[in-house]
Amino acid sequence: MKFFVDTAEIDAIAELNDLGMVDGVTTNPSLIKKSGRDIIEVTKEICALVDGPVSAEVTAIDAKTMIAEGRKLLEIADNITVKVPLTWDGLQACKALTDDGHKVNVTLCFSANQALLAAKAGATFISPFIGRLDDINLDGMELIEDIRTIYDNYGFDTEILAASIRSANHVLDCARLGADVITAPPAVIKALVNHPLTDKGLAAFLADIKAADIKIL
Ligand code: E4P
Repeated sequence: MKFFVDTAEIDAIAELNDLGMVDGVTTNPSLIKKSGRDIIEVTKEICALVDGPVSAEVTAIDAKTMIAEGRKLLEIADNITVKVPLTWDGLQACKALTDDGHKVNVTLCFSANQALLAAKAGATFISPFIGRLDDINLDGMELIEDIRTIYDNYGFDTEILAASIRSANHVLDCARLGADVITAPPAVIKALVNHPLTDKGLAAFLADIKAADIKIL
């Protein structure tokens, strides 16, 4: 499973990238706003930092302007993926850009039927939003499972990019269900390392190292 980092914070991306944890990056208008940076400048920096795909989202809602914005974003770097919303116009933009050989991430997916449409429009990635479904008491994981089944039934190449990941359990469930990619905030990716028995075991080892005065260097 690939790990994308869901942020526009350069330092956080760099820290995870140095550990080989970053297969790509996703941004959205809210994350750009949070960074306080210019979208073109910060996206360029992210693209220079990581080798994998970097999703940059259009701001328009009509297909023609989405395509024009997508083409401008694609000029930033070779590893740009254009992110478009899952609307009829977004699907039109997806089809036009993928027909030209570009990568497109179709975002704001909340149903399996929407994911089916995105795959038929040639999407490179589909982004089902798990956390936002959970927020309204719907089952985000059921959506991942349904999309996996449908894409496998018909051999669609579109990668399932599980988004709106809020917890370590979301990551685990996505891995079990066969999501191709998860995109998560840096804090969630770093939290995957935590286990109380690791902390407890390390504390016991440290006590014995001290008691026996064990030295290696
Ligand atoms: C990424 O592509 C999505 O925009 C992001 O994961 C949404 O996450 P949120 O629901 O926590 O804002």
